[in-house]
Amino acid sequence: SPLHPFLTRLPKCEHHLHIEGSLSPDLLFALSAKNSTPLPPITSDPSFASPATLNARYAAFSSLDDFLAYYYIGMRVLVTPSDFSDLTYAYLARAAREGVRHAEVFFDPQAHLSRGVSIDTVVSGLLAGRRRAEAEFAGRGAKRLTVLFIPCLLRHLPVSDSAACFELMQSKGYFSRGDLAGLGLCSTELAKPPGDWAEIFAAAGRHGIRRTAHAGEEGPAGYVIAALDELGVSRIDHGVRAAEDEGVMERLAREGVMLTVCPMSNVRLKGVERIEHVPIRKFLERGVRFSINSDDPAYFEGYVQDNYCAVQEAFGLTVGEWRTIARNAVEGSWCGEERKREIL
Ligand code: HPA
Ligand code: ZN
Repeated sequence: SPLHPFLTRLPKCEHHLHIEGSLSPDLLFALSAKNSTPLPPITSDPSFASPATLNARYAAFSSLDDFLAYYYIGMRVLVTPSDFSDLTYAYLARAAREGVRHAEVFFDPQAHLSRGVSIDTVVSGLLAGRRRAEAEFAGRGAKRLTVLFIPCLLRHLPVSDSAACFELMQSKGYFSRGDLAGLGLCSTELAKPPGDWAEIFAAAGRHGIRRTAHAGEEGPAGYVIAALDELGVSRIDHGVRAAEDEGVMERLAREGVMLTVCPMSNVRLKGVERIEHVPIRKFLERGVRFSINSDDPAYFEGYVQDNYCAVQEAFGLTVGEWRTIARNAVEGSWCGEERKREIL
């Protein structure tokens, strides 16, 4: 499309990127060898024979849970602070090349704690990766890159495990120091209503911690409302199933709640058949704010620019519509007002 150079230049914010989801099959195999972390024997899953077979398997995910099984196996190769730092730097360098000015990066602390990797290892690695990237792009003024980190609690584990993880992060002072910018919630969605995490999210709210949650990806529009009412979130990750309910969209529009939409992810995990079925047009018409994001780019084979281009191919948006999307993404960010003005 003739708009692709414009889309690269457009100042972008990415709010929905799981750093563990940026682990490519090539790096997965390399780190597995370096850290002596065994992958499943190919007798039990032949997809783990090589990076190529793994990539082929990724192209055939049937659902969120089918993807998550591979995602949680893959991240077992992340062991040392430098593994997390290198992964973070590599993502940020690519994002900067694609015109991302502000990135808010998710990570899954419980998935590392459960296999004996400490929270200090994970967070110190993320912070080191950010330091390296911010230093490298510091000279670019408004075009520099700012980065925030958001830990996500995991819905496939008991709520008590989420509570312990939140307590641990609080005890380390990560939120009060600003190392971590807010709290998220992800992993399997069906049969995991947001309200089960209400107590933890209320505690976060009392400490002035910003909150977001994955909702309305596979789960119904009612889970989007539950995340707003019972978790006090100021954003919704995915939220595409809100399009099934006019009342829910009306509320999102009225309250200015931003959805962090991930078009290629929705196609790969079979939420929709094609990008054309992601409710981009409906959200624009109803005034529902959203940003466009990659989610797990190594698993869905598309970084943020690929997602912008896929949306443009499918919807043929105008320059004006793109400017609205970009402005809403800046305004829905958790950076300071000064930085927002600088990006705009
Ligand atoms: N949904 C829920 N959990 C996740 C996702 C997602 O898209 N990506 C990584 N963890
Ligand atoms: Zn996600």
